[in-house]
Amino acid sequence: MIDFENVGLRYGLGREVLSDMTFRIDPGSFQFLTGSSGAGKTSLLRLMLMSINPSRGRIKLFSKETSQIPRRDIPFIRRKLGVVFQDFRLLDHLTTYENVALPLRVRGKTELNYRSDVTDLLKWVGLGERIHAHPPVLSGGEKQRAAIARALIGQPEILLADEPTGNVDPSLAQRLLRLFIELNRSGTSVVIATHDMALMDQFDARRLVVNEGRLQIYE
Ligand SMILES: Nc1ncnc2c1ncn2[C@@H]1O[C@H](COP(=O)(O)OP(=O)(O)O)[C@@H](O)[C@H]1O
Ligand SMILES: [Mg+2]
Repeated sequence: MIDFENVGLRYGLGREVLSDMTFRIDPGSFQFLTGSSGAGKTSLLRLMLMSINPSRGRIKLFSKETSQIPRRDIPFIRRKLGVVFQDFRLLDHLTTYENVALPLRVRGKTELNYRSDVTDLLKWVGLGERIHAHPPVLSGGEKQRAAIARALIGQPEILLADEPTGNVDPSLAQRLLRLFIELNRSGTSVVIATHDMALMDQFDARRLVVNEGRLQIYE
């Protein structure tokens, strides 16, 4: 569903940050994307999201070459991708419930249609008691889970999460990981960018390791 072939990326006139990236993310797969801080994990996720273009090589998303996708089609393809950004990007003037419902509202769904889905999902991520709270009063871990719920509400085919356990204690990090594994068992592909080796070592999963601009894959 995501297919990179000889992808290279440079920002402006700088050196190549990512080189010769060739890999695939298969339907229903689960993998960590790892590497030290500054290695290029976020850049790689941004390429997968079509927020930036590669400097060379080609990327296919759902069998379509991204350089051939008309701009106006990008929002529709993005709907198949759930994204958890490192900085959450929750809207402070909306409640937790409204933040999670937003992707559905944008698609023209009516509240009658999604109300129970949103509340069920918020319960699943452990935010059943925080439905009416606004992001500024949520803890880091609660914001994290709200961002995860918002990424999942549209039932994406693939979930991309950038350091989704970066702001939580080790026990919550483990719980979040179990949540991602449960999601994967239901068929969603999952890519988790993290530099948390201790966390990854607790789970036996495929690893894509970015090191000095190159990718090593451990199946
Ligand atoms: N918008 C940008 N402009 C220029 N350089 C960038 C930009 N974003 C990231 N970089 C550089 O690309 C490299 C990889 O960054 P990043 O993808 O954020 O790594 P990671 O997520 O693994 O910490 C770093 O050297 C960083 O400074
Ligand atoms: Mg990053």
